[in-house]
Amino acid sequence: MHVTISYKVGMRLLVIGGTGYLGREVCRVASAAGWEVVQAGHASGHGIAVDVCDPAAVEHLVDDVAPTAVLNLAYVQEGPRAWEVNVDGARNVARAAATQGCRLLHLSTDVVFDGRLGRPYVETDAPSPCTDYGRSKAEAERAVAAQAPAALVVRTSLIVGGPGCEPSRHELAALDDTLTFYDDEVRCPVQVTDLAHALLELAALDVAGPLHVAGPEALSRAELAELIRGAPVPRAPAPPDRPLDCSLDSSSARALLRATLRGAHRVFG
Ligand SMILES: NC(=O)c1ccc[n+]([C@@H]2O[C@H](COP(=O)([O-])OP(=O)(O)OC[C@H]3O[C@@H](n4cnc5c(N)ncnc54)[C@H](OP(=O)(O)O)[C@@H]3O)[C@@H](O)[C@H]2O)c1
Repeated sequence: MHVTISYKVGMRLLVIGGTGYLGREVCRVASAAGWEVVQAGHASGHGIAVDVCDPAAVEHLVDDVAPTAVLNLAYVQEGPRAWEVNVDGARNVARAAATQGCRLLHLSTDVVFDGRLGRPYVETDAPSPCTDYGRSKAEAERAVAAQAPAALVVRTSLIVGGPGCEPSRHELAALDDTLTFYDDEVRCPVQVTDLAHALLELAALDVAGPLHVAGPEALSRAELAELIRGAPVPRAPAPPDRPLDCSLDSSSARALLRATLRGAHRVFG
């Protein structure tokens, strides 16, 4: 259940990566809250098409839209363009936002950490990525901070929908009988609508640097899959090169926010 949150009126939000899973929900929640929303994606049929790897195109988009805030969610997880999209794209968006003088929120991930610290990560812990994806997101964080020091870098974890919401890829995977789930890879799943509300609040707050915004409950991928499926799933230990316990301590975000970040048992229970 959500409390009603009123955001600043007259806000224009540009959501780059607005056609993806989180982006669609942010656009929906922001529109419902009365924000003027401009949704930009790469190749999909919705919103404005932009390639974040093209600095001139990004600059023109931000200049044309003249948003109050830019939310950069654009990324690819793997493949030949991952570094370019995640790092150069992030840098291009940050530079354009800084030039335009608008608020920037950049989305990052818990796997900027290797998961071997032995306690939940706080914002001051140094990134220690151990995957190509994590390395690209850690480098993107550095690029964003260099271009736009006032930007907020939001690190989050597995994004899930839950009953009544569009299923995330994690939920679709949980229902796939052919898959085995790591029982030692721990994350703090966050519900997509909760995260969208949190991001909109943060867009209107004057906070900069990294901020952990994830669910309060740490559980393994196997535990999450069983919660979603409501039945046991095949389990296995993660291979040695995987990020293990990337639990995020989101207490700073919780102290800032009125939005609730529900744990996985509250979402799926
Ligand atoms: N999903 C998770 O569990 C999770 C966990 C931790 C962190 N995050 C972070 O949350 C953010 C959003 O994740 P998501 O799951 O919503 O992603 P998603 O569903 O895969 O959407 C990615 C978005 O990026 C856009 N995009 C890809 N390449 C682009 C390019 N060259 N130029 C412009 N846009 C491009 C896509 O546009 P098209 O649709 O047009 O291709 C799409 O809108 C990412 O920064 C991710 O690192 C996600």
